[in-house]
Amino acid sequence: MTKILFVCLGNICRSPAAEGVFLALLERENIKYKFEIDSAGTSGYHAGEAADERMIESAKRRGIHLPSRSRQLIKEDFDHFDYVVVMDDSNLKNSEKLAPQEHHHKIIKITDYSSDKFGPDHVPDPYYGGTQGFELVLDLLEDCCHNLLNSIKTKI
Ligand code: 4NP
Repeated sequence: MTKILFVCLGNICRSPAAEGVFLALLERENIKYKFEIDSAGTSGYHAGEAADERMIESAKRRGIHLPSRSRQLIKEDFDHFDYVVVMDDSNLKNSEKLAPQEHHHKIIKITDYSSDKFGPDHVPDPYYGGTQGFELVLDLLEDCCHNLLNSIKTKI
């Protein structure tokens, strides 16, 4: 069982979308049983909330379901999960601050798996913008999650 935790700031937009995109890939390949997938936020501002309605709608148009409820990232997550996959450098810094030193190697930034080496080096926070921002999040995540899964598959 490979355990992956996706992390952003609020856990209502980017990391729930990453979770949904990754789950859809696993379902398509019939390998969901080999993985545990979850998401969390470095902040607890939105704890208990469903994903942002705009993120849910954009994902739905691509046939992707977002099942998550927001929760805050906790220190114990670094014991439990094999990979903690962050969306931007702020998530990276805050995750590293919380993680015991021996688990820092588990923290990776999702855009390191982008096919486009000239593309964005993070998944931009769409919260205060329009629909285009949510579409960009999904474009980036579909590409990066595909490559991340292929990379993990070579190790399991
Ligand atoms: P997320 O987006 O980190 O992708 O879930 C955000 C959601 C809420 C806030 C910021 C970012 N906020 O400040 O409330």
